[in-house]
Amino acid sequence: MFPVKKKTTRLPASEVVLYGADYNPDQWLGHDHILREDIELMKRAGVTSASVGIFSWTALEPEPGVYKFDWLDSTMDRLGGAGLLVFLATPSGSKPMWLSEMHPEIRRVNVDGMRQPSGGRHNHCPTSPVYREVVRRLNHALALRYGSHPALALWHIGNEFNGDCHCDLCRAAFHDWLRGHYGSLDHLNSAWWTSFWNHTFTDWNQIPTVDRSIDGLALDWLRFVNDQHVSFLENEMAPLREVTPNIPCTTNFMGTIPTLNYWQWAKSLDCISNDIYPLPDDREDSWKKSLGSDFAHCLMRGLAHGDPWILMECSPSSVNWGKVNKLKRPQVLMQEVLQAVANGADVIHYFQWRKGRGGSEKFHGAVVDHEGSSHSRVFKECAEVGRVLRSLASITGVRPDQAPVAMVYDWESRWALDASIGPKRETWGDVYTRTCVEHFRALRSAGIEVDIVPVDGDFSGYRAVITPALYMLEQEARNRLTAYVEGGGCWVATFLTGYVDRHNRCWCGGFPGPDLREVFGLWNEEVDYLFDDEEVVIRGCINGLTGDMRATDIVEHLHAEGATTMAALDSEFYAGAPIILRNHWGDGACYYVGARLDEKSLLAFYNVLSGELALPCEELPPGVVRKTRLGSNGPVEFLFNYTKHEVVIDIGEDAYLRVSDGVSVSGNTTLRPYETLLRGVAPSPGKLSHHVTHYPPHHESKKATLPVQT
Ligand code: GAL
Repeated sequence: MFPVKKKTTRLPASEVVLYGADYNPDQWLGHDHILREDIELMKRAGVTSASVGIFSWTALEPEPGVYKFDWLDSTMDRLGGAGLLVFLATPSGSKPMWLSEMHPEIRRVNVDGMRQPSGGRHNHCPTSPVYREVVRRLNHALALRYGSHPALALWHIGNEFNGDCHCDLCRAAFHDWLRGHYGSLDHLNSAWWTSFWNHTFTDWNQIPTVDRSIDGLALDWLRFVNDQHVSFLENEMAPLREVTPNIPCTTNFMGTIPTLNYWQWAKSLDCISNDIYPLPDDREDSWKKSLGSDFAHCLMRGLAHGDPWILMECSPSSVNWGKVNKLKRPQVLMQEVLQAVANGADVIHYFQWRKGRGGSEKFHGAVVDHEGSSHSRVFKECAEVGRVLRSLASITGVRPDQAPVAMVYDWESRWALDASIGPKRETWGDVYTRTCVEHFRALRSAGIEVDIVPVDGDFSGYRAVITPALYMLEQEARNRLTAYVEGGGCWVATFLTGYVDRHNRCWCGGFPGPDLREVFGLWNEEVDYLFDDEEVVIRGCINGLTGDMRATDIVEHLHAEGATTMAALDSEFYAGAPIILRNHWGDGACYYVGARLDEKSLLAFYNVLSGELALPCEELPPGVVRKTRLGSNGPVEFLFNYTKHEVVIDIGEDAYLRVSDGVSVSGNTTLRPYETLLRGVAPSPGKLSHHVTHYPPHHESKKATLPVQT
């Protein structure tokens, strides 16, 4: 079962998958023909909603306390008049120049103590009472003005909150936060192990915001910054919730951002939304990145407690900030959008509707190019996406199905690992997320569906819970996971499990801790790191784990203490030591994978696991993924070819609709590069435009088309 719902997700009410973009009419004030054309073009593209005003503060409040709503009034009326919904932004993501110059304390101070200049964006001090007050005042005015406007469907709070500030206000707030958490300096010193290098604090005011050598401090700073942003968000939402209790609030997330713990944010919001920018990439293994996007989408579904969520930003074409800004290949945009829908998105928005003439994003992909018409390739593809989304109306509002397996994603473990010097190589980057994504990819490649849950989620009902690199493990989580196993569950843990407590202090008594040696039936004595060109050979000891198995990067030196060895190391001085183990515990079982396995070996492990647990799974060629989403008229099936190659597979006798040209296909079928097939979508009369099919036509006979816009 999906984790027990703590609260109800409230998305904007809609009978269709909402479709739109960030819309910045404030950049085009005085260009009335453009603003009129926008509406015409939106209708042509099948747009149903728009995020408005994200960076429009000065247009709304050109001088202190003087509000100017005329342009937003007419924008709301124009959009509403055309039947579109508005996601109205609070413009706190970029502060007005006048405010920033008048109150320098609202600008952030960096780690070196330098106050930042005005300009840029996403750089306000989250503590500043002045900034909080002006934001609150403006939000209140917006709520009063537009609360009853029929087009208002959602509050889009700020934009991509992130970053930290080291000003005196933040430092004092950090001290208060620490006082609240520790009560006394003695407790704090002991939690942070400050006798190391003589760092004992004797006065709260001595505590800095950064000291890399005190890893407990580094961890608490991340927690404090996260809390400070959430309280800023709450401050923003208070007047909106007071005046417009029926309008849901969201803010756009950034997937697995390193510095924010979105499990905590999710508790404050009415619905979850995310921005995702997979860099267009048509190299050999780009399909693996698509599975990485699936991971981010599943995380959003988890944050929404299993409910539908919003894809708030993605690019309709290339971005302008990558190292190499390739164009999206034909069918890639369609596939990316449908991939999000298959994983639970009920709303798809782009950044951005129209390219601006100036500024640093003038070359970023947009639905409407500088050319300004509906004739561009990208516009036509977007219109095609709009058409296909309309055919998927039956899935809106329907809670996606649950998966048999849960994976824990835990920002706290990630933070603790990031804050520790070792046990990882600094050059590895985000070791934590990388490990989660590798396991997720292997599970998906074995055809096993996965939900992503927090470490304090509800595991009951899942056949297995995977906790990659759960480096920080507190007694409470340990007890819950152990009880789950005792009740018949299956816990899969990996290297880097159970090293530290919530203060980043190592567990004594042997890893995995706390008190997990007996539960897993093993002792993790030490950990070895390999150079990039090194591998350790692994020898399987059970059926299914055979052939060429390898470990890279990180290898733990384990000893079985009651567990069964499923695979052992076969090179280096620790040859013969177990590396994959299974231990029966209570009515369930624990598995431990003590090294970073290469792709093939990890897949072999999950194939064995799915056999042992009799998990529902399906073997498909690499890069081919099938997803089912429940709809009000029955299930809708999505079959994706994430690869750049043609793949021939037998898709069964029930026909699928090929999205690129509306042809109905069944049996032995060639999936074209980046192809998406749909099943369970009623074909209706209509004509697909011809611009999207850039591959040689095939010879299927049963022609059908997707519904047209009514
Ligand atoms: C997002 C941001 C947008 C836009 C976009 C460009 O992170 O929210 O405002 O800048 O990136 O890719």
